[in-house]
Amino acid sequence: MDDLVKQLKRDLENLNKMPELNDVKAKYLGKKGSISALSSKMRELNNEKKKEFGITLNKIKNDANELINLKRCEIERRILEKKLKEETIDITLPGVDIPMGSPSIVEKMVEQIEQILMSMGYDVVDGPEIEKDKYNFEMLNIPKGHPARDAQDTFYIEGNEILLRSQTSPVQIRTMLKGNGQTPIRMICPGKTYRRDDDDATHSHQFMQIEGLLIDKKVSLSDLKGTFDVIAKSIFGEDTETRFRPSYYQFTEPSVEMDIKCHHCKGNGCNICKNTGWITVSGAGIVHPNVLRNCGYDPDKWQGFAFGFGAERLAMIKYNIDDLRVFYTNDLRESKTFDRKEAE
Ligand code: DAH
Repeated sequence: MDDLVKQLKRDLENLNKMPELNDVKAKYLGKKGSISALSSKMRELNNEKKKEFGITLNKIKNDANELINLKRCEIERRILEKKLKEETIDITLPGVDIPMGSPSIVEKMVEQIEQILMSMGYDVVDGPEIEKDKYNFEMLNIPKGHPARDAQDTFYIEGNEILLRSQTSPVQIRTMLKGNGQTPIRMICPGKTYRRDDDDATHSHQFMQIEGLLIDKKVSLSDLKGTFDVIAKSIFGEDTETRFRPSYYQFTEPSVEMDIKCHHCKGNGCNICKNTGWITVSGAGIVHPNVLRNCGYDPDKWQGFAFGFGAERLAMIKYNIDDLRVFYTNDLRESKTFDRKEAE
């Protein structure tokens, strides 16, 4: 047995690789290893000798394990030292600039409005971008052949029934139909919309709208004004003044344009507000009785207001951007500029 340990020490002496160490371990302590083989000799001994033999065998096993583990630590330390020596970092080399993207400024605008309205109990809902003419126009009180359709020059997909939605207002219809004429509604729907417009500084064939709808009992224009005030102040600053101007939409009566006092010139007149002191940020109004009726809501019991923001337009006003196309060119340099503007 002593010889075995001496032999093991010799085997370990010049060894410096892990696989070799594993081989040595198998040679002595493996199932068929020489130390394990000694156990089978036990059977040949009488009881007294067995005990003595057993104790010695255990000691040898422990010694062998310890020797092998010591060697393992030594090899591991050597591997680590070698690695550290080879992988030294030359801190005098110039660094590599990793270009970073950032969330789109339009997306941030949408998220901000979602947060404000969710805090007032609104649900954020989704609607299809491929829509029925019936929901996009007809049930919104815009029958076929109505001149109002011309303003929303529409991409039709199949005949004249299926289209790419030209506004998010059809989501009003879908939400009211789900409410079955019974339940109050508070929803916003941010989403992409499409029109056959030529792309220029203020038009895009695809843009983002944020629709809002509230249906309840005893809803008035002043509720809309209060809601708009909260939204405008949280986007453009606490000192933002708002006003309504009369307007016309088929699905609201009365209809309004919602303006904010120009936050650049504080209403004194500048090129951003075209010297009027005010900037229009949204169309809105009290839901038309025909629309309520179309969706199963009795206009004598229920009223509501609706509004539609253009997300790009809000971002353009807030960050003083004069060309809508920058949102869609995916130029990292632009998005960096937006980050800077936001920090200001
Ligand atoms: N859908 C209108 C548009 O695209 C915007 C709008 C106006 C939405 C008034 C509304 C609303 O919900 O009440 O021009």
